[in-house]
Amino acid sequence: MAALESLAGFAASPVLEARLRRAAALAEACRDIRPDVDEPHWAALLDAVTVQETRLFRHPAQCAAAAALLPAGLAAARAGGRPFRMLSAGCATGEEAFTLAALAQHATREAPGAAVEVLGLDLCRPALASAASGAIAPGMGEPLALVPPALRSWFEDASGQIRLHPRLRRMLRFERRNLLGWADEGLDAIFCRNVLIYLTEPARIAVTAALCAALRPGGLLALGPTDRPPAGMVARGESLWTAPDG
Ligand SMILES: C[S@@+](CC[C@H](N)C(=O)[O-])C[C@H]1O[C@@H](n2cnc3c(N)ncnc32)[C@H](O)[C@@H]1O
Repeated sequence: MAALESLAGFAASPVLEARLRRAAALAEACRDIRPDVDEPHWAALLDAVTVQETRLFRHPAQCAAAAALLPAGLAAARAGGRPFRMLSAGCATGEEAFTLAALAQHATREAPGAAVEVLGLDLCRPALASAASGAIAPGMGEPLALVPPALRSWFEDASGQIRLHPRLRRMLRFERRNLLGWADEGLDAIFCRNVLIYLTEPARIAVTAALCAALRPGGLLALGPTDRPPAGMVARGESLWTAPDG
């Protein structure tokens, strides 16, 4: 438990303890190996104890509020001759990243010609493999239940078959990264929802600071509904914030 906390920031919880008990053989195999996310035994343990619950358009009111802010950001990126860069931090099987791609693609109707890149980061290898395949996991109930009718065609073909539209797939990339210790810059929008709740307070503070630092001036940050407001950011409602401009 202590090693998982220092490695990935995981907080002790009944869920984590139950998962660790179920993965006792994997945990035992890690006992004499230095914790390292790239070490195969530790990677297997991280795969086993992380929680991948997700779905398309999770927190619909927040998605709608973010959608209203996207056209201006897309137009600014296009005017600057650069892609609009979005991040799903703790992407699990990819549905949050798929949602961001659909929202941005829809918003390009108001900012034609804008280029969009969506990156998903996670530690869990099977989840990332599923995300990269473009599969829409059945997850929690009917997969398209929260998808606004105007956006359903990004996730369903003419025959009603559920699939990720090839145009969205081309916008998406997934990488294995530990958010604890991660850093980037120049991002236009970051969604990190239902991830910080699994972390200790010091890890939450460190990851939130890294997310804020990775945003461009005016960039958008979406956190989970119970996450703490990040310091120095401008509140936009619905657990949304923007980085101060310039
Ligand atoms: C419950 S899912 C949330 C998925 C999505 N963001 C959503 O809200 O639907 C949490 C994800 O965060 C990932 N995660 C937790 N701690 C992480 C860390 N330190 N680095 C990278 N990913 C992490 C887990 O592997 C898991 O896939």
